[in-house]
Amino acid sequence: MSQAVFNPFDPAFRANPHPFYDALREHDPVHTSLGGLVVLTRYSDVATVLRSNDYSRDVEKSAKRLDNPISNRMRERRRDSAKSILNLDPPDHSRLRRLVSKSFTPTAIEALRPMVQHYVDAALEAAEQRVRDGGTFELIDDLAFPVPFLVISAMLGMPIDREVELREWSQVITRTLEPTTGLAELDEADAAFGGLLPFLDEVIADRRRNLGSDMLSSLITAEEAGDKLTAEELVTFVLLLYIAGHETTVNLIGNSMLALLRAPDQLNHVREHGLDSNAIDELLRFDGPVQHTVRVPVVPVQFQVGDRVIEVAAGERVLTSLGAASHDPSVFENPHQLDLRRANANKHLGFAAGIHYCLGSALAKLEAQVAIESLLHRFSHVELVGEPSWRDRLTIRGVDRLALAVAR
Ligand code: HEM
Repeated sequence: MSQAVFNPFDPAFRANPHPFYDALREHDPVHTSLGGLVVLTRYSDVATVLRSNDYSRDVEKSAKRLDNPISNRMRERRRDSAKSILNLDPPDHSRLRRLVSKSFTPTAIEALRPMVQHYVDAALEAAEQRVRDGGTFELIDDLAFPVPFLVISAMLGMPIDREVELREWSQVITRTLEPTTGLAELDEADAAFGGLLPFLDEVIADRRRNLGSDMLSSLITAEEAGDKLTAEELVTFVLLLYIAGHETTVNLIGNSMLALLRAPDQLNHVREHGLDSNAIDELLRFDGPVQHTVRVPVVPVQFQVGDRVIEVAAGERVLTSLGAASHDPSVFENPHQLDLRRANANKHLGFAAGIHYCLGSALAKLEAQVAIESLLHRFSHVELVGEPSWRDRLTIRGVDRLALAVAR
């Protein structure tokens, strides 16, 4: 493909962005999209931008304040709530990150392994029973969604009795991260917030009266200490952890199982050697759930393309394509091939880089490892049934339905 455009409205682009990423990286690596975004697809540019202090994560710093009904609605929405850690720059970013980082260290996460294993075993047991009763095993509903949802709920100490509504609300809310978001999606997201926020308020009020040892209790304690977290920040933070905690790992488990089923030699490798950290990094590199993120330069910046120097003014919006960077052939040999033994798989940018590097990376990797290894351990035969369907999204990319035939 020689046509190099970033057009997420094109269904072919959303279905398989890689040919488009490749064309952009080769022909126009510092590309200005129709919507005015500066789209970066080379590994070196994306990694440099994510690690640089010359960029902000706060889109409000964009001098190019788009004046259209959708951007205006989004801006109003942002004004009504505290900024999340994801959209803050230091020092506020560092203050918030410090409050929860100890719950996400590799040691703290490893201590959750028995709980993750318990939820995985229970999900697989129920799925196997369903198959015995003549039903089907659908990976997303039966394993990939329930495990991260139950784990983040337990970490935060959230009730799980409204699982169906919570899943629907968070799917509707994350849809507004897509570059294709329209007014209808914003209306639906407002309605979802209308359900989710009172639910959170109720849980927080209840927890204030009965503090426990969960993460929500420690955030409430920080908020009550006054100088560490405001009441609005508390709600926004819990919302982000809760949604990030179960919207992305679902896709890591789904996309990874699909990639393995399509590469039987790699699936056999997992059966023989398990899924070590490097193998999970390769799965994240190959088809990561988060495909891009946005930064705003706070000073004028430059990119070199051949002998041309491209200037980007402060306040422009720069889209860093994590998916394209993680398939850059100058860093990853045969980038479109899944190779669980790839020596430099851990250089992938699926969790971004720099100060916003995914806080939940160790948790996501643990959940994916336990879920996939346990599935393959329980069933000696796992086969795709029909074609999987994808969520029609790009920012958060994932398989929606993946039916499996399984046998012991
Ligand atoms: C495979 C699953 C996951 C992927 C691919 C993923 C990806 C990412 C990426 C790319 C970012 C950085 C965004 C940016 O720089 O703009 C990020 C940040 C973040 N992630 Fe994840 N994530 C995953 C799972 C999780 C989980 C399980 C949690 C926790 C409960 C989590 C919590 C967060 C938080 C709190 C941030 C913001 C960190 C900061 O701004 O300092 N993520 N994630």
